[in-house]
Amino acid sequence: MAYDTIIVEKRGEAGLITLNRPKAMNALNKALLDEMIDALAAMRDDAKIGAVVITGSQKAFAAGADIKEMSEFAFASAYMHDALGGWETVAGFPKPMIAAVSGYALGGGCELAAMCDFIIAGESAKFGQPEVTLGIMPGMGGTQRLARSIGKAKTMDLCLTGRMMDAEEAERCGLVARIVPDTELIEEAISAAQKIASFSLPSVMMAKETINQAFETGLAEGLRFERRLFHAMFALEDQSEGMAAFIDKRTPSFRNR
Ligand code: HXC
Repeated sequence: MAYDTIIVEKRGEAGLITLNRPKAMNALNKALLDEMIDALAAMRDDAKIGAVVITGSQKAFAAGADIKEMSEFAFASAYMHDALGGWETVAGFPKPMIAAVSGYALGGGCELAAMCDFIIAGESAKFGQPEVTLGIMPGMGGTQRLARSIGKAKTMDLCLTGRMMDAEEAERCGLVARIVPDTELIEEAISAAQKIASFSLPSVMMAKETINQAFETGLAEGLRFERRLFHAMFALEDQSEGMAAFIDKRTPSFRNR
Protein backbone atom coordinates (compact mmCIF):
# COMPACT_ATOMS: atom_id res chain seq x y z
CA MET A 1 0.00 0.00 0.00
CA ALA A 2 1.33 3.48 -0.89
CA TYR A 3 0.95 5.94 1.97
CA ASP A 4 0.03 9.65 1.81
CA THR A 5 0.19 10.63 5.47
CA ILE A 6 3.08 8.56 6.83
CA ILE A 7 6.53 7.48 5.63
CA VAL A 8 7.49 3.90 6.40
CA GLU A 9 11.11 2.77 6.47
CA LYS A 10 13.24 -0.03 7.84
CA ARG A 11 16.52 0.64 9.62
CA GLY A 12 18.04 -2.77 10.12
CA GLU A 13 15.64 -4.64 12.39
CA ALA A 14 13.89 -1.43 13.46
CA GLY A 15 10.76 -0.16 11.70
CA LEU A 16 10.39 3.62 11.43
CA ILE A 17 7.04 5.35 10.90
CA THR A 18 7.24 9.11 10.33
CA LEU A 19 3.99 11.07 10.53
CA ASN A 20 3.91 13.19 7.40
CA ARG A 21 1.23 15.87 7.24
CA PRO A 22 3.58 18.87 7.44
CA LYS A 23 0.94 21.46 6.47
CA ALA A 24 -1.29 20.38 9.35
CA MET A 25 1.35 19.87 12.08
CA ASN A 26 0.86 16.09 11.61
CA ALA A 27 -2.74 16.32 12.82
CA LEU A 28 -4.16 12.82 13.15
CA ASN A 29 -6.97 12.27 10.66
CA LYS A 30 -8.83 9.12 9.65
CA ALA A 31 -6.58 8.52 6.62
CA LEU A 32 -3.49 8.65 8.85
CA LEU A 33 -5.05 6.24 11.35
CA ASP A 34 -5.94 3.77 8.58
CA GLU A 35 -2.42 3.98 7.17
CA MET A 36 -0.83 3.52 10.61
CA ILE A 37 -2.94 0.41 11.21
CA ASP A 38 -1.93 -1.00 7.83
CA ALA A 39 1.78 -0.22 8.32
CA LEU A 40 1.82 -1.67 11.83
CA ALA A 41 0.07 -4.86 10.68
CA ALA A 42 2.83 -5.32 8.08
CA MET A 43 5.51 -4.71 10.72
CA ARG A 44 3.85 -7.16 13.10
CA ASP A 45 3.96 -9.83 10.39
CA ASP A 46 7.53 -9.01 9.31
CA ALA A 47 9.76 -11.45 11.17
CA LYS A 48 12.75 -9.20 10.47
CA ILE A 49 11.33 -6.31 12.52
CA GLY A 50 11.88 -6.48 16.28
CA ALA A 51 10.77 -2.98 17.36
CA VAL A 52 9.22 0.15 15.89
CA VAL A 53 9.87 3.87 16.25
CA ILE A 54 7.10 6.40 15.66
CA THR A 55 8.16 9.98 15.06
CA GLY A 56 6.98 13.26 13.55
CA SER A 57 8.82 16.36 12.40
CA GLN A 58 11.19 18.72 14.19
CA LYS A 59 8.29 21.15 14.75
CA ALA A 60 5.53 18.70 15.63
CA PHE A 61 5.28 15.08 16.64
CA ALA A 62 1.53 15.63 16.19
CA ALA A 63 -0.64 18.62 17.15
CA GLY A 64 -3.59 16.41 17.99
CA ALA A 65 -6.58 14.92 16.27
CA ASP A 66 -7.45 16.80 13.08
CA ILE A 67 -9.70 19.58 14.36
CA LYS A 68 -11.10 20.38 10.90
CA GLU A 69 -12.17 16.75 10.40
CA MET A 70 -13.38 16.43 13.99
CA SER A 71 -15.52 19.57 13.73
CA GLU A 72 -17.84 17.53 11.45
CA PHE A 73 -18.40 14.78 14.04
CA ALA A 74 -21.98 14.18 15.20
CA PHE A 75 -22.87 12.06 18.20
CA ALA A 76 -24.88 9.28 16.53
CA SER A 77 -22.39 8.47 13.79
CA ALA A 78 -19.34 8.92 16.05
CA TYR A 79 -20.92 6.50 18.52
CA MET A 80 -22.15 3.96 15.97
CA HIS A 81 -18.83 3.89 14.07
CA ASP A 82 -16.78 4.09 17.27
CA ALA A 83 -14.85 7.12 15.94
CA LEU A 84 -11.19 6.97 17.03
CA GLY A 85 -11.65 3.39 18.30
CA GLY A 86 -9.05 2.31 15.74
CA TRP A 87 -6.35 3.93 17.89
CA GLU A 88 -6.74 1.03 20.31
CA THR A 89 -5.45 -1.22 17.51
CA VAL A 90 -2.34 0.99 17.39
CA ALA A 91 -2.04 0.83 21.20
CA GLY A 92 -2.33 -2.97 21.05
CA PHE A 93 0.67 -3.42 18.72
CA PRO A 94 2.47 -6.40 20.27
CA LYS A 95 6.12 -5.59 19.46
CA PRO A 96 7.97 -2.82 21.33
CA MET A 97 7.07 0.67 20.07
CA ILE A 98 9.04 3.81 20.91
CA ALA A 99 7.81 7.39 20.41
CA ALA A 100 10.55 9.81 19.33
CA VAL A 101 9.06 13.23 20.08
CA SER A 102 10.30 16.68 19.15
CA GLY A 103 8.14 19.80 18.99
CA TYR A 104 4.42 19.68 19.79
CA ALA A 105 2.80 16.51 21.10
CA LEU A 106 -0.66 17.87 21.86
CA GLY A 107 -4.04 16.27 22.44
CA GLY A 108 -4.16 13.07 20.38
CA GLY A 109 -0.45 13.57 19.64
CA CYS A 110 0.38 13.37 23.35
CA GLU A 111 -1.98 10.41 23.65
CA LEU A 112 -0.32 8.63 20.70
CA ALA A 113 3.09 9.13 22.34
CA ALA A 114 1.68 7.77 25.61
CA MET A 115 0.35 4.69 23.77
CA CYS A 116 3.91 3.78 22.86
CA ASP A 117 5.96 1.67 25.26
CA PHE A 118 8.23 4.58 26.07
CA ILE A 119 8.96 8.09 24.90
CA ILE A 120 12.34 9.52 23.98
CA ALA A 121 12.02 13.30 23.81
CA GLY A 122 14.11 15.88 22.02
CA GLU A 123 14.81 19.02 24.05
CA SER A 124 12.16 20.94 22.08
CA ALA A 125 9.32 18.54 22.96
CA LYS A 126 6.14 20.05 24.40
CA PHE A 127 3.36 17.89 25.75
CA GLY A 128 -0.20 18.95 26.47
CA GLN A 129 -3.88 18.06 26.45
CA PRO A 130 -5.46 21.30 25.16
CA GLU A 131 -8.85 19.76 24.31
CA VAL A 132 -10.50 21.85 27.04
CA THR A 133 -9.73 24.96 24.95
CA LEU A 134 -11.89 23.47 22.16
CA GLY A 135 -14.83 22.68 24.40
CA ILE A 136 -14.06 18.95 24.55
CA MET A 137 -11.87 16.56 26.56
CA PRO A 138 -9.21 13.96 25.64
CA GLY A 139 -10.61 10.94 23.79
CA MET A 140 -7.63 8.74 22.91
CA GLY A 141 -6.52 7.76 26.40
CA GLY A 142 -5.44 11.11 27.88
CA THR A 143 -7.64 10.79 30.94
CA GLN A 144 -6.81 7.10 31.44
CA ARG A 145 -3.25 6.31 30.28
CA LEU A 146 -1.90 9.62 31.55
CA ALA A 147 -3.57 9.22 34.95
CA ARG A 148 -1.95 5.80 35.27
CA SER A 149 1.48 6.91 34.13
CA ILE A 150 1.93 10.42 35.57
CA GLY A 151 -0.69 10.39 38.32
CA LYS A 152 -3.83 12.35 39.11
CA ALA A 153 -2.33 15.76 39.92
CA LYS A 154 -0.42 16.28 36.67
CA THR A 155 -3.18 14.71 34.57
CA MET A 156 -5.81 17.00 36.08
CA ASP A 157 -3.49 20.00 35.68
CA LEU A 158 -2.84 19.26 31.98
CA CYS A 159 -6.40 18.29 31.05
CA LEU A 160 -8.21 21.01 33.01
CA THR A 161 -5.92 23.98 32.24
CA GLY A 162 -4.80 22.91 28.75
CA ARG A 163 -1.24 24.10 29.51
CA MET A 164 1.83 22.53 27.89
CA MET A 165 4.77 21.00 29.72
CA ASP A 166 8.32 20.94 28.40
CA ALA A 167 10.56 17.89 28.02
CA GLU A 168 12.19 18.30 31.44
CA GLU A 169 8.89 18.47 33.30
CA ALA A 170 7.65 15.50 31.25
CA GLU A 171 10.72 13.49 32.24
CA ARG A 172 10.40 14.52 35.91
CA CYS A 173 6.82 13.26 36.06
CA GLY A 174 7.62 9.99 34.30
CA LEU A 175 5.98 10.57 30.91
CA VAL A 176 9.34 10.63 29.17
CA ALA A 177 12.08 8.00 29.56
CA ARG A 178 15.04 9.99 28.16
CA ILE A 179 15.74 13.49 26.83
CA VAL A 180 18.33 13.98 24.10
CA PRO A 181 19.32 16.92 21.89
CA ASP A 182 16.87 17.23 18.97
CA THR A 183 19.66 16.50 16.50
CA GLU A 184 20.26 13.10 18.11
CA LEU A 185 16.62 12.12 18.58
CA ILE A 186 16.07 9.74 15.66
CA GLU A 187 19.49 8.15 15.99
CA GLU A 188 18.92 7.55 19.73
CA ALA A 189 15.43 6.09 19.19
CA ILE A 190 16.54 3.86 16.31
CA SER A 191 19.51 2.65 18.27
CA ALA A 192 17.23 1.80 21.25
CA ALA A 193 14.86 -0.05 18.88
CA GLN A 194 17.77 -1.94 17.29
CA LYS A 195 19.11 -2.87 20.74
CA ILE A 196 15.69 -4.26 21.68
CA ALA A 197 15.48 -6.07 18.32
CA SER A 198 18.81 -7.78 19.01
CA PHE A 199 17.23 -9.72 21.90
CA SER A 200 14.81 -12.66 21.77
CA LEU A 201 11.54 -11.26 20.36
CA PRO A 202 9.22 -13.62 22.26
CA SER A 203 10.88 -12.74 25.59
CA VAL A 204 10.76 -9.02 24.80
CA MET A 205 7.08 -9.28 23.79
CA MET A 206 6.28 -11.17 26.98
CA ALA A 207 8.03 -8.51 29.08
CA LYS A 208 6.00 -5.80 27.32
CA GLU A 209 2.74 -7.70 27.79
CA THR A 210 3.51 -8.30 31.46
CA ILE A 211 4.42 -4.66 32.21
CA ASN A 212 1.20 -3.56 30.51
CA GLN A 213 -0.66 -6.02 32.73
CA ALA A 214 0.41 -3.87 35.71
CA PHE A 215 -1.98 -1.20 34.42
CA GLU A 216 -4.88 -3.61 34.04
CA THR A 217 -4.91 -5.60 37.26
CA GLY A 218 -4.14 -5.76 41.00
CA LEU A 219 -0.69 -6.60 42.40
CA ALA A 220 -1.33 -10.25 43.38
CA GLU A 221 -2.90 -11.07 40.00
CA GLY A 222 -0.14 -9.16 38.18
CA LEU A 223 2.58 -11.05 40.04
CA ARG A 224 0.86 -14.34 39.27
CA PHE A 225 0.69 -13.36 35.56
CA GLU A 226 4.39 -12.47 35.63
CA ARG A 227 5.37 -15.76 37.28
CA ARG A 228 3.31 -17.83 34.83
CA LEU A 229 4.93 -16.17 31.80
CA PHE A 230 8.32 -16.39 33.50
CA HIS A 231 7.80 -20.17 33.85
CA ALA A 232 6.69 -20.33 30.21
CA MET A 233 9.99 -18.76 29.12
CA PHE A 234 11.72 -22.03 29.94
CA ALA A 235 9.97 -23.48 26.88
CA LEU A 236 11.90 -21.05 24.64
CA GLU A 237 15.01 -22.16 22.78
CA ASP A 238 16.25 -18.60 23.24
CA GLN A 239 16.26 -19.04 27.01
CA SER A 240 18.54 -22.09 26.70
CA GLU A 241 20.73 -20.22 24.21
CA GLY A 242 20.92 -17.03 26.32
CA MET A 243 21.96 -18.88 29.45
CA ALA A 244 24.34 -21.26 27.64
CA ALA A 245 26.01 -18.26 25.98
CA PHE A 246 26.49 -16.58 29.35
CA ILE A 247 28.05 -19.72 30.81
CA ASP A 248 30.27 -20.22 27.70
CA LYS A 249 31.29 -16.52 27.77
CA ARG A 250 30.07 -15.92 24.20
CA THR A 251 27.46 -13.69 22.54
CA PRO A 252 24.05 -15.40 22.31
CA SER A 253 22.52 -16.07 18.94
CA PHE A 254 18.77 -15.62 19.43
CA ARG A 255 16.43 -17.22 16.88
CA ASN A 256 13.09 -15.95 18.18
CA ARG A 257 11.85 -19.35 19.23
C1 HXC B 1 -5.96 20.40 12.23
C2 HXC B 1 -4.13 21.72 12.63
C3 HXC B 1 -4.01 21.21 13.93
C4 HXC B 1 -4.96 20.22 14.35
C5 HXC B 1 -2.45 22.64 13.63
N1 HXC B 1 -3.14 22.59 12.49
N2 HXC B 1 -2.96 21.80 14.53
N3 HXC B 1 -5.09 21.31 11.79
N4 HXC B 1 -5.91 19.87 13.47
N5 HXC B 1 -4.92 19.65 15.54
C6 HXC B 1 -2.90 23.36 11.27
C7 HXC B 1 -3.33 24.82 11.42
O1 HXC B 1 -4.71 24.94 11.20
C8 HXC B 1 -2.50 25.47 10.33
O2 HXC B 1 -3.08 25.21 9.08
C9 HXC B 1 -1.19 24.67 10.36
O3 HXC B 1 -1.52 23.43 11.00
C10 HXC B 1 -0.12 25.35 11.17
O4 HXC B 1 -0.63 25.66 12.45
P1 HXC B 1 -0.45 27.09 13.15
O5 HXC B 1 -1.45 27.19 14.23
O6 HXC B 1 -0.46 28.16 12.13
O7 HXC B 1 1.04 26.97 13.74
P2 HXC B 1 1.64 27.65 15.06
O8 HXC B 1 1.20 29.07 15.15
O9 HXC B 1 3.11 27.35 15.02
O10 HXC B 1 0.95 26.88 16.28
C11 HXC B 1 1.20 25.49 16.48
C12 HXC B 1 0.17 24.89 17.51
C13 HXC B 1 -1.26 25.24 17.03
C14 HXC B 1 0.44 25.49 18.88
C15 HXC B 1 0.43 23.41 17.55
O11 HXC B 1 -1.40 24.86 15.66
C16 HXC B 1 -2.32 24.58 17.83
O12 HXC B 1 -2.65 25.02 18.93
N6 HXC B 1 -2.93 23.52 17.25
C17 HXC B 1 -4.06 22.83 17.85
C18 HXC B 1 -3.61 22.01 19.05
C19 HXC B 1 -4.78 21.33 19.69
O13 HXC B 1 -5.73 21.98 20.15
N7 HXC B 1 -4.75 19.98 19.75
C20 HXC B 1 -5.80 19.20 20.29
C21 HXC B 1 -6.74 18.78 19.21
S1 HXC B 1 -8.09 17.88 19.87
P3 HXC B 1 -3.63 26.41 8.12
O14 HXC B 1 -4.16 25.70 6.92
O15 HXC B 1 -4.63 27.16 8.91
O16 HXC B 1 -2.38 27.22 7.85
C22 HXC B 1 -7.54 16.32 20.08
C23 HXC B 1 -8.53 15.37 20.63
C24 HXC B 1 -7.93 14.01 20.72
O17 HXC B 1 -6.42 16.00 19.82
C25 HXC B 1 -8.90 13.07 21.30
C26 HXC B 1 -9.68 12.32 20.32
C27 HXC B 1 -10.96 12.98 20.03
